[in-house]
Amino acid sequence: MQSDPALLVGFDKSDDACVYKVSDELALVQTVDFFPPVVDDPYMFGQVAAANALSDVYAMGGEPKTCLNIMGIPRDFPKEVTREILRGGYDKVAEAGAVVAGGHTILDEEPKYGLSVTGFVHPDRFYRNCGARPGDVLILTKPLGTGILTTAAKADLLAEEDKASMIRIMTELNRKARDVFVQCDVHACTDVTGFGLMGHLFEMVDGTDCEAAVDTKAIDILPVALDFARMGVLAEGMYRNRSYCEAQVDQGTVQTAVCDALFDPQTSGGLLAAVAPEDAEKCLAMLQGQVLSAQRIGTVRGYEGGKRIFLK
Ligand code: CO
Ligand code: CO
Repeated sequence: MQSDPALLVGFDKSDDACVYKVSDELALVQTVDFFPPVVDDPYMFGQVAAANALSDVYAMGGEPKTCLNIMGIPRDFPKEVTREILRGGYDKVAEAGAVVAGGHTILDEEPKYGLSVTGFVHPDRFYRNCGARPGDVLILTKPLGTGILTTAAKADLLAEEDKASMIRIMTELNRKARDVFVQCDVHACTDVTGFGLMGHLFEMVDGTDCEAAVDTKAIDILPVALDFARMGVLAEGMYRNRSYCEAQVDQGTVQTAVCDALFDPQTSGGLLAAVAPEDAEKCLAMLQGQVLSAQRIGTVRGYEGGKRIFLK
């Protein structure tokens, strides 16, 4: 096992990115993420992939600085499509105030795109996904249900306007959410992605002296996603997420379709933060109008043994 005292966060605790201390004032945040197209418009796919990769730096409380493209393209892939994907990524990185500084492309049977991102953070002021304390308020910054909608879109079931709002959610940077959180007393933060809200919330409390109480009525679930969930249109990853942590979740009397949305894997989802109770109102007020959906979804409590997440 390699070790280096300057490595403040490694891959031991499933954090969003690693953190490496350079000086008393500066630490590097580094992350990489790439995947096959989740939407059919190549420019939008580039934007989604970039927003998703940048998000792990925001989840640590950092500011993205340099990005490297990572791309796989099939032989004879149209040059124009490749260019559009890269342009989408480039524009999103520019919006984040960072730069694309290079990259690497290989031949691949299925197209893939994403970024390696390096950012800056203060070595004493970054967020981990653990660190929540009893009494903290759980705040989420984007609506849920994009995994269900991408599944519906692939089956050609999604109306154009719903497709547009799905893309709007997935291309939205978590930058403004991060900019608000750094002005508040945030004890833990992560972004909601492949493991769904339940999976990422479980990682926040697993192995700690905390559990989470979630008010599902306060969660902004896209109504059209709930409709599809009721019809059984669900992402494959939802079932994986369910089996990963279902045993730790007390679902109470919450409807199955709502639970499905809580386990729904998100691409480029919002930030989930545990905020000190005395800062929660201020934080929510500041998020209002800055993020797509500022939601107070529950609270952190002292762990009493047994399950880790309680839904009502
Ligand atoms: Co993440
Ligand atoms: Co505090």
